[in-house]
Amino acid sequence: MTQLFINIKELIQVREPRIQKVSGKEMGVLPTLKNAFLRIENELIVDFGLMDTLQNRAADKTIDCSGKMIFPSWCDSHTHIVYAGNRAQEFVDRIKGLSYEEIANNGGGILNSAKKLQETSEDELYQQSAKRVHEVIALGTGAIEIKSGYGLTVAAELKMLRVIKRLKENFDTPIKATFLGAHALPAVYKKNKTGYLNLIIEEMLPLIATENLADFIDIFCEVGYFDLEDTAQILAAGKKYGLIPKVHVNQFNAFGGIAISVAHNALSVDHLEEMTPDDINALKGANTMPVALPSCSYFLSIPYTPARKIIDAGLPLALATDYNPGSTPSGNMNFVVATACIKMKMTPEEAINAATINGAFAMNLSDKVGSITKGKLANFFITKEIASYGFLPYSFGDNLLETVYLKGTKAIL
Ligand code: NIG
Ligand code: FE
Repeated sequence: MTQLFINIKELIQVREPRIQKVSGKEMGVLPTLKNAFLRIENELIVDFGLMDTLQNRAADKTIDCSGKMIFPSWCDSHTHIVYAGNRAQEFVDRIKGLSYEEIANNGGGILNSAKKLQETSEDELYQQSAKRVHEVIALGTGAIEIKSGYGLTVAAELKMLRVIKRLKENFDTPIKATFLGAHALPAVYKKNKTGYLNLIIEEMLPLIATENLADFIDIFCEVGYFDLEDTAQILAAGKKYGLIPKVHVNQFNAFGGIAISVAHNALSVDHLEEMTPDDINALKGANTMPVALPSCSYFLSIPYTPARKIIDAGLPLALATDYNPGSTPSGNMNFVVATACIKMKMTPEEAINAATINGAFAMNLSDKVGSITKGKLANFFITKEIASYGFLPYSFGDNLLETVYLKGTKAIL
């Protein structure tokens, strides 16, 4: 089926296929076409251009977009959207004065989510997670990465990854799975970190590989969680099974985790709230995408990733939600883009590039999503009537999306 979108006020992020990411000054340039058309054939983008140049108007369906803009779907390259229940009580505890760290040390935090998840059936976990995926699709997300890491036992980590696999099968949005067994030390291994790392390497990884349950491997490289040696060991073990590293690093402390991740050819390094000049240097010349998670900084009241330092050093930057029950109970990429502009001093062009083409790169999905490009999936959203694309971050908190398309089909909102 051919669908033709005409009179598009502005078609955002139009790119040639060879552009896979944008870095430094290039991030400030957002290619668009004003008064444009877009042609899709079944699930793919096949043509676009200026209305003046539109010759062939034949189509099964023609959609008039006067006054409205079309954006490629948001690419959310970092989420923990599969989880059980919630941690709303910890939210209140923090309001009353406890820190995120104190809550974790008292058995809350990741271990609290792990307990809930272990007690939840696979089917129930799927239902809770699928509901969240529907919700973020309605907010414009059209490609998503999902991590394990709230299981922390062989059975529960596999349960999480099987739920992600089922989401992959049932949704029209590309989904990538990341194995994050090294998210926290389970209580039974409190005094035996080596034992838990061995469990990950000797039992979890072989089973995950046999069932083909993960694309990437992750570890929480942080004081009180896993150190540099653990990080090197886990990333090397994952590599044996073809899992590419994406690493939680520099959230609270900077101690060399970025250099280790780059040395293991990480596809991305994520969080980066604390960055030293050495960390920036380690990223220069690397193929690793730095990823900022501003709604996590917002929710925890911790520093924002220094986007200006990263971009002004000539590096690329991607934006993602970190959707999870503890540090970011929100999967709203529109809010992430607005917060990046408001709090991290990114321009709308930089933030939109970071949330689309660079996000796609951070998931190894550059050939499928992230821009309006011939041959890519017809995953995009049509806005309401807006004055300029800058209205997305400017009107923070408003929902300016009107319709969402995934693989050329209107997604049910
Ligand atoms: O990315 N930092 C580590 N992991 C998650 C949140 C963990 C939690 O509190 O559940 C994050 O913020
Ligand atoms: Fe995270």
